[in-house]
Amino acid sequence: MKIDILTLFPEGFEPIKQSIIGRAVESKKIDINLINIRDFSKDKHKKVDDTPYGGGAGMVIKPDVVYDSYKSVYEPDAKVIYLTPQGKTLNQKKVQELSEYKHLILICGHYEGIDQRVIDEIAPEEISIGDYVLTGGELPAMVIIDAVTRYVEGVLNKESIKEESFNNNLLEYPQYTRPEIFLGRKVPEVLMSR
Ligand code: ADE
Repeated sequence: MKIDILTLFPEGFEPIKQSIIGRAVESKKIDINLINIRDFSKDKHKKVDDTPYGGGAGMVIKPDVVYDSYKSVYEPDAKVIYLTPQGKTLNQKKVQELSEYKHLILICGHYEGIDQRVIDEIAPEEISIGDYVLTGGELPAMVIIDAVTRYVEGVLNKESIKEESFNNNLLEYPQYTRPEIFLGRKVPEVLMSR
């Protein structure tokens, strides 16, 4: 699976270079490509935002830089996602659905958002990771990448995924490992004979 991330803060994606996701990248099961929206600014100061028409606090990301960065990675069969608190809330079913795509393009907003005309033009699926407002779409994009990568063939062992779907995709039962007694607490008897 190829994942292109359009962001103003590519350096914020260090955490997903670790552990299971890092290994999935190293073994080429996923290909994560960070695209800096700022690289598409034609302004001599590399400006990417401006004050909102109609007034109000904060800055709005200009439409041309987002559009040009999107065009640089666009392919007709790519699934395009805009991370925004206004989007539909992510759940495990959506994660599974996204894992079926060969190519995801994730658009991360920042500041007060992105000029609506480029959103209307691209018409991405809008996804939120919960009913709260973050400073940008970078953490939500990493949440999607982490959750989706688990379903990519060969990333987890098949048993984990099978057990999970058996458990309705949600929380598993409590887990225990050695020692048998920890601070006076014993591993449940029912697990000891297996
Ligand atoms: N950008 C800011 N807050 C967000 C959220 N809760 N989900 C997705 N993108 C966001």
